Formats: sequence, structure tokens, C-alpha cells
Amino acid sequence: MDVFTYDPGFTSTGSCESAITFIDGDKGELLYRGYPIDQLAEKSHYLEVCYLLLYGELPTAAQMEDFESRVTHHTMLHEQMKNFYSGFRRDAHPMAVVCGVVGAMSAFYHDSTDISDPWQREVATIRLIAKLPTIVAWAFKYSVGQPMVYPRNDLDYASNFLHMCFAVPAEPYEVNPILARAMDRIFTLHADHEQNASTSTVRLAGSSGANPFACIAAGVACLWGPAHGGANQACLEMLREIGSVDRIPEYVNRAKDKNDPFRLMGFGHRVYKNFDPRAKVMQQTAKEVLDLLGVADNPLLQVAQELERIALEDPYFKEKKLYPNVDFYSGIILEAMGFPTELFTPIFALARTVGWISQWKEMLEEPVQKIGRPRQLYTGATYRDYTDVEKR
Ligand code: CMC
Repeated sequence: MDVFTYDPGFTSTGSCESAITFIDGDKGELLYRGYPIDQLAEKSHYLEVCYLLLYGELPTAAQMEDFESRVTHHTMLHEQMKNFYSGFRRDAHPMAVVCGVVGAMSAFYHDSTDISDPWQREVATIRLIAKLPTIVAWAFKYSVGQPMVYPRNDLDYASNFLHMCFAVPAEPYEVNPILARAMDRIFTLHADHEQNASTSTVRLAGSSGANPFACIAAGVACLWGPAHGGANQACLEMLREIGSVDRIPEYVNRAKDKNDPFRLMGFGHRVYKNFDPRAKVMQQTAKEVLDLLGVADNPLLQVAQELERIALEDPYFKEKKLYPNVDFYSGIILEAMGFPTELFTPIFALARTVGWISQWKEMLEEPVQKIGRPRQLYTGATYRDYTDVEKR
């Protein structure tokens, strides 16, 4: 009989070697290729972070220019993909649309699906990073019944995304640089997070030799759940439901009640047993954005700040080391920018695509490839003979 370790939820299983992202959950530290996330959020920008995650080092100016021009060359979607969108219901969740469209990329870009060819792998990588903003923005436009806005390659990555989401042909639209900076920071903070559920899904799909677009679609599907990327939508909905500061104790008590399935969304993490360093940057960014928009007295922000204060002082949350995570403040920023809650998780998917593809690339560059294949503890019936239907 095979011997293996039973580890439901993979709480103590290392699935791979990786040199991309490091988390020290006790210290609340997150490093991309050795660089701390707060320094990258402050001093770098998303496309530079993409380069760092993909190739291991910060780019020189010439390398950055080349990378940026390769990405912007691929921002358009195949024109026929617009027809593909119109097959969805207008009221479909944009995450369903994004999952479908990313999966369909292997039908539109099959010249970059041969994973044995390093050049095709690189083209698929660039295509995914370049096209995800267009895919997500078009899912948004489709849901609100507005015409799709084509990418503008004279804009930086985050500004172009805001342009595709909020510009309408009838009116002039100028991207606010402070909002673009906040958007870029949200992308940077979500870019990678080592072997979380969706990244492990991408690796598992990739281990079978599936093409990169299929693997990333699998990652998008996994991210959707409220315990993972869907928490940003769930968190904002929770803050709205709480509604006012005086109702917070009721919800905190519910979160502590073991007979109530309710959890404080945006709280807790499998790895962080200290402040999620991304949440700290996100909190600061939320203040900046709300100040800029003149909505610093936003009731949701007040509820969030007070909820954070009460929960951090509560013995239950202290004992279980439950701190606010990245999703706690991101929804407030995105809502203030004008995004509907349904778009929060697609935006997370857009930003995480570089992490998924970096991990997929790293896996395929390993000298030995092995299909991922966990075992199980069988709990079903032992051997028994088939019973004919008339005897059952
Ligand atoms: N509210 C109340 N209690 C909680 C919470 C919460 N948000 N999170 C964990 N707990 C309790 C849980 O009930 C359990 O208690 P006990 O030991 O008495 O059974 C204990 O803390 C450990 O929880 P767990 O579910 O065993 O921990 P996990 O590592 O399996 O789950 C988690 C981590 C993130 C799924 C969980 O903390 C959670 O559901 N949080 C809310 C959803 C959320 O914010 N998710 C976003 C995560 S960050 C972004 C991302 O990576 O996608």
C-alpha cells in the first residue's frame, strides 16, 4: 500500500519550489523576488513589477521600454471576440464572462498554445498581461450596455484600464493621475501571493500540459470564491449591510458565534498571523482616494475603520490572530472610483494574471515535469459484487 500524508486543505504541504514570492506570515512580510511589497507599491509601478515577477530582476530602462512596447502591442482583442461577448446575458456576473473569454483565448490565439515552444510561451505570457485589462473592461461595458472602448497605447497600463472602463464616445474623458496611481497600486498589491488556491490551480492545470489560456481560466474560476478573491465583493457587501457604526458589535458577535456561519469578510488569512502588509498600503490608498474625491466622510470607510478597531481589540480575533487582509479596504477604493461591486473580483483576476503566469512559467522551466496528482483517504464501501436491478 502507498504511504502518504493526509493533509486536507494542504495546510502543511509544500507543493513546489519557487523563487518568486516570499511570505513571512508571523512578521506580516511579503516580498516579490526579495523586494518588500510596501517599497514596490510606493516606488515602482505595475508593469515594472510584472517584469520583476516574470524575469526575476528589476529591468534596466531599455529592458522596461522593450517590455512596455511588447505589452502595448498586444492590448487589442481579436475583433471577433466582441461577438463572443454578445452571446452572454447582459446581467451575467462579469467574473463568469471573464472566465469564459480568457478560456476562449486559446481558440483565438492558438498560435501561442504550444507549450513546448519557449517563444510561444512568451507570446502567450505577453498576450495575457496585455489583454486582461481589455477583457475585464469590456465585460464591464457589456454589463452596462455601453459600447466597448478600444485600448489607448499612449496611456500607462492603469490609466488605459480606467479609460476603457469609464470613457464613453459622446463625452471627453481625462484619467485622473491620482486615481490611476491608486489603480496601479491595487494591481501591484495583488500581483502575486505564492501558492494560494488559484495559483495552485493554475500550476495543477499546467502540470497536465494544458495550454496557458486554459490554465489562467482555471485560475480565474478558482479566484471567484468568497473565501479567496471574491472576498473583496463580499466584504463591501458586508460593510453595506452593517451600514452604521452602532451595528458593528452585532456583526462582531455573529462572527464569533460558532453556530452562525457568518464570518467577517476581509479578516483572517491562512498564512498571515499578523497584519497583511498589503492591507496597510490599501488603507492609506483608501484615505488618499476618498480625500481626492471629497468623500472622506464616506460612511463605509467609517464603518470599516471602526470595525477594524473593534475587531483588533476583541479577544476572539486576537487569540485567533485574525487581522484585516488585502480585501478589507480594496473594495472601498474601487467603489469610490465608480466600479460596481461585481467588478472587484475581475480586477483582482486582471492583476493576479502576472503572478499566475509567472508561476506557470517557472514550473515549465523546471528540468523535470511531473503531473500534480494528490491522493485521498478512501471512506466509501469496501469491495462488493454488482446486484441485478430486480434484486435491489
Ligand atoms: N471571521 C470570524 N472567524 C474567523 C474568520 C473570520 N473572517 N476567519 C477565520 N476565523 C476563525 C475560524 O472560524 C476558525 O475558528 P476555530 O479554530 O474556532 O474553528 C479559525 O479562525 C481558523 O479559521 P480557518 O477557516 O480554519 O482558517 P483558514 O486558514 O482555513 O481560512 C480564510 C483562511 C481567509 C479562508 C478565513 O480567514 C476566512 O474565511 N476569511 C474571510 C474571507 C476572506 O477575507 N478571504 C480573503 C483572504 S485574503 C485574499 C486572498 O488571498 O484571496
